[in-house]
Amino acid sequence: MTFTVPAIETPNTLQIRLEIRALQAQLVEWRRQLHQRPELAFKEQITAQFIAQKLQEWGIEHQTEIAKTGIVAIIKGDRPGKVLAIRADMDALPIQEANEVPYRSQHDGIMHACGHDGHVAIALGTAYYLSQHRHTFNGTVKIIFQPAEEGPGGAKPMIEAGVLKNPDVDAIIGLHLWNNLSLGQIGVRSGPLMAAVESFHCTINGRGGHGAMPHQTVDSILISAQIVNALQAIVARNVNPLDAAVVTVGELHAGTANNVIADSAWMSGTVRYFNPQLEDFIGERCDRIIAGICSSHGATYNLDYWQLYPATVNDPKIAEFVRSVALEVVETPLGVVPECQTMGGEDMSFFLKEVPGCYFFVGAANPAKNLAYPHHHPNFDFDETALGIGVEMFARCVERFSEIS
Ligand code: NI
Repeated sequence: MTFTVPAIETPNTLQIRLEIRALQAQLVEWRRQLHQRPELAFKEQITAQFIAQKLQEWGIEHQTEIAKTGIVAIIKGDRPGKVLAIRADMDALPIQEANEVPYRSQHDGIMHACGHDGHVAIALGTAYYLSQHRHTFNGTVKIIFQPAEEGPGGAKPMIEAGVLKNPDVDAIIGLHLWNNLSLGQIGVRSGPLMAAVESFHCTINGRGGHGAMPHQTVDSILISAQIVNALQAIVARNVNPLDAAVVTVGELHAGTANNVIADSAWMSGTVRYFNPQLEDFIGERCDRIIAGICSSHGATYNLDYWQLYPATVNDPKIAEFVRSVALEVVETPLGVVPECQTMGGEDMSFFLKEVPGCYFFVGAANPAKNLAYPHHHPNFDFDETALGIGVEMFARCVERFSEIS
């Protein structure tokens, strides 16, 4: 199916850019204030106060304390129309910031190392711009400030609290500032963008004993080694090679001395995939493989397996719409990058399971300014020029949303 949205060349398209550029210094200031006071999942109190105070100041209708620290702002255009939601996550990570910048984190051991401070600044900038330009769009915009994206996940409780209802949301968009793309690039993709995230813990119970008398024992380390190897066969031999998937054992702990056979071993891992049809499949395969190997050695096991976030899957029609908006913003077709899939996970996925929408990446890396560290790195930072690009993307999406039927 192809769906094209004609680009509208009016003086207004340039006007949006000029007005948003005028906001740039404000966006940077808000982002830096938030960066200095990062907060972990469901503890985003200062962040929520900061947001609510701005919304209050600008006379924007909003509701606070949704799923603990979440906020929803509502901005109505001058004419009736559909409801578009914009989602921004608010939380930081348990990382000690290594950057020596004037706006470095003042909270010990906590850092905005993923750019969610920028997401809040962009959403605030969008809210402010739209509240001043209600004549430029139809319908209603709901701006969802969501806690706890880094886990355990704030999207699901916000949906359960009804943020997609009353008025009912027709579509949702969201963005991530992205250091895997350069400043000036925008990553937009139809279909799966980010992976489903599952994780597991497993204890192998053998029978310990003397390292020189293995025949008297059930060696939990030998069994664990076989399990780690065999789990790789799930991706290699059970998943369709055209479907990308990952099974990673990230931790394996066992043993106390060189001459002791360990009584038990403990491992943990993460599983990623894009195809929603693999939901339940990989977890079941893990269980069968672990059960088979343990039983062949006379060991027992305890497997805890969690499905955390589903895959983040973009609606083709909304993705095409966002792509056409991105083309206006970056002004060069080469700047809009469809090859931007990642095995990282996102709880934006829960919103996209409820309503059609599109999650996209705004390139934020600038190696010339040493702003290209990966996300979740203690030196992570991004080129703040991307903040204005984010606002421009959202504002143009809102103003053109009524074109989608
Ligand atoms: Ni993030």
